[in-house]
Amino acid sequence: MPIIAPSLLSADFLNLQKDCDMLNRSQADWFHLDVMDGRFVPNISFGLPVIEKIRKATQKICDVHLMIEEPGNFAEAFKKAGADVLTVHYEACPHLHRNLQQIRSLGMKAGVALNPHTPVHLLSDILQDIDMVLIMSVNPGFGGQQFINHSLDKIRSLKKMITEKNLPTLIEIDGGVTLNNAASIVKAGTDVLVAGNTVFRSQDPEATIAALKKS
Ligand code: DX5
Ligand code: ZN
Repeated sequence: MPIIAPSLLSADFLNLQKDCDMLNRSQADWFHLDVMDGRFVPNISFGLPVIEKIRKATQKICDVHLMIEEPGNFAEAFKKAGADVLTVHYEACPHLHRNLQQIRSLGMKAGVALNPHTPVHLLSDILQDIDMVLIMSVNPGFGGQQFINHSLDKIRSLKKMITEKNLPTLIEIDGGVTLNNAASIVKAGTDVLVAGNTVFRSQDPEATIAALKKS
């Protein structure tokens, strides 16, 4: 069964407590928290003070996805705010190995995100230092976009790389995950499903999370 990580980017920001309570009751495993700086991506979301509050509202894993430039400047602050998993973008990190070492030395799991145009093979010499690879299946910056089908090939190639090297690295898929495509995404080799709009725009978010869990 996949790990389910609802993205709070699609939550009701005036009623975050209510949405956190719903996720706590649900079969969601992780809270996916999207941080955007208006530079690496053409949007701004929320940052440290909001994550600090969410941290206090849940015991579940806080999975922080940084869509920001120079993420190394903020790794310590996100650790203090309560991140368990910290994911940086390959495209934002000219010294990726250093960034990953820093994240792990702070006691967090280290993730690397790939934009839709970035090939998975670029990670072949760093895979052993990564706890999780996040494959963006939409262009980062906004919720509610359509899943890019080529992502399925990327998942299969990455899964093969991980299996050949006999590594425990997780694969997370982020963007355009729906109840219709979740099963094929998991079948391709995905461990963690992120879902924003599919969960928070549904009539019964808890039931939707339970359905995703069965994918
Ligand atoms: C997009 C974010 C996603 C977003 C996914 O840049 O990284 O986590 O919330 O939203 P949906 O599931 O609606 O595509
Ligand atoms: Zn995300």
